[in-house]
Amino acid sequence: MESVQAIKQRFGIIGNDPKLNRAIEKAIQVAATDISVLVTGESGVGKESIPKIIHQLSHRKHGKYIAVNCGAIPEGTIDSELFGHEKGAFTGATQTRSGYFEVADGGTIFLDEVGELPLTTQVRLLRVLENGEFIKVGSSKVQKTNVRIVAATNVNMFEAIKKEKFREDLYYRLSTIEINLPALRERKEDIHILFRKFASDFALKYKMPTVKLTDDAIALLLKYRWNGNIRQLRNVAEQISVLEHNRTINAATLQNYLPNTGSTLPAVVNSSKSESDFSSEREILYKVLFDMKSDLNDLKKLTMELMKSGSVSDVQKDNEHLIQKIYGNDTDDDFENAVEDLEVLSIPEHSEVNEPVSTEVEDKYHFAEEIEEEETLSLQDKELELIKKSLERHNGKRKLAAAELGISERTLYRKIKQYDL
Ligand SMILES: Nc1ncnc2c1ncn2[C@@H]1O[C@H](COP(=O)(O)OP(=O)(O)OP(=O)(O)O)[C@@H](O)[C@H]1O
Ligand SMILES: [Mg+2]
Repeated sequence: MESVQAIKQRFGIIGNDPKLNRAIEKAIQVAATDISVLVTGESGVGKESIPKIIHQLSHRKHGKYIAVNCGAIPEGTIDSELFGHEKGAFTGATQTRSGYFEVADGGTIFLDEVGELPLTTQVRLLRVLENGEFIKVGSSKVQKTNVRIVAATNVNMFEAIKKEKFREDLYYRLSTIEINLPALRERKEDIHILFRKFASDFALKYKMPTVKLTDDAIALLLKYRWNGNIRQLRNVAEQISVLEHNRTINAATLQNYLPNTGSTLPAVVNSSKSESDFSSEREILYKVLFDMKSDLNDLKKLTMELMKSGSVSDVQKDNEHLIQKIYGNDTDDDFENAVEDLEVLSIPEHSEVNEPVSTEVEDKYHFAEEIEEEETLSLQDKELELIKKSLERHNGKRKLAAAELGISERTLYRKIKQYDL
């Protein structure tokens, strides 16, 4: 059996907190069995690595591992996503389709945000868990599958059961073994190690010297509540790494990046929202800046390669991933168009040119200009604008838009509902 330390190294898990070690140990112990596992813990504590460990250490490791974010799939399609559907089962079902439970036969399904599953889907899930049986939407044929379930939640399941949003029988079935990940504020010893790790990662990524904390800044880091846990710490490390010229960070500077630091009392924050990537005005702006910087670096690289090589097709071949990253999957542009885009970008006056291939990069510049010109535009309007543009760019494909915006599909789905898009 691999040791806890070896697993941490293999899966990039930092920290040495006894509760974290115990959680990993439990994952190792339970991996070889087919027992259902429920991973619990606040948002951003690192729940997603546990199902991966379990799958990789199990006899299913050569089978499929499918992670499903139950909160990101619209209620109307989740049954079909999970269990498949028959041709003609509903409008638009032009083909019979296999669901995840059929595809992952012999493997593992990670049901993230399981507390968000609609009640009707919970009934179907209970049946699969009990005897491996499921029925495609619109079919009457019972099918069998052999899937191991690992679920995760950051909501209080007992509350959900009390409010009749979650079936008690399903909860007990899912949580045969519960693995709880501690909140960052309970892992004081790990906070500074994690910060140093992130700071050094971002220094590499942005090609800048690593930021260092003074003693008073470290003390503040340890005292802070970290409602968004490791995700929030990572964001703070990224923001500081990019924005601070002076690479030695004292408490006063650090404080600017920590909301509600005035008090060490439990912060009055809705934790599920607080670590959303759009939780503060600053974050929206940083996101735009990071994206622009990253796009610029990619474009610089491409331009340099073009100048050096002189052969468009060679550069295209060698830089497929970069071109894809900058211009996305679903544009049907060819590389010549892409090169024209570079020219458009380098001359700001031309930024109004509205060629379809150039919209992704251009829009970010438009957005930056709008910030200057229309100060009255509210923060929400800006956020709405960002989301709308991203969705338009990706023809309504939420997955791509979420990736572009740097938020989870679930968060994007919530925003879409919130703004009634
Ligand atoms: N111990 C760790 N070492 C290094 N990075 C970590 C660790 N734990 C979490 N992270 C990083 O923190 C971020 C948040 O982790 P993760 O997505 O697993 O959170 P989560 O518990 O699933 O949160 P949510 O409930 O919001 O989905 C990820 O970028 C992850 O890589
Ligand atoms: Mg998660």
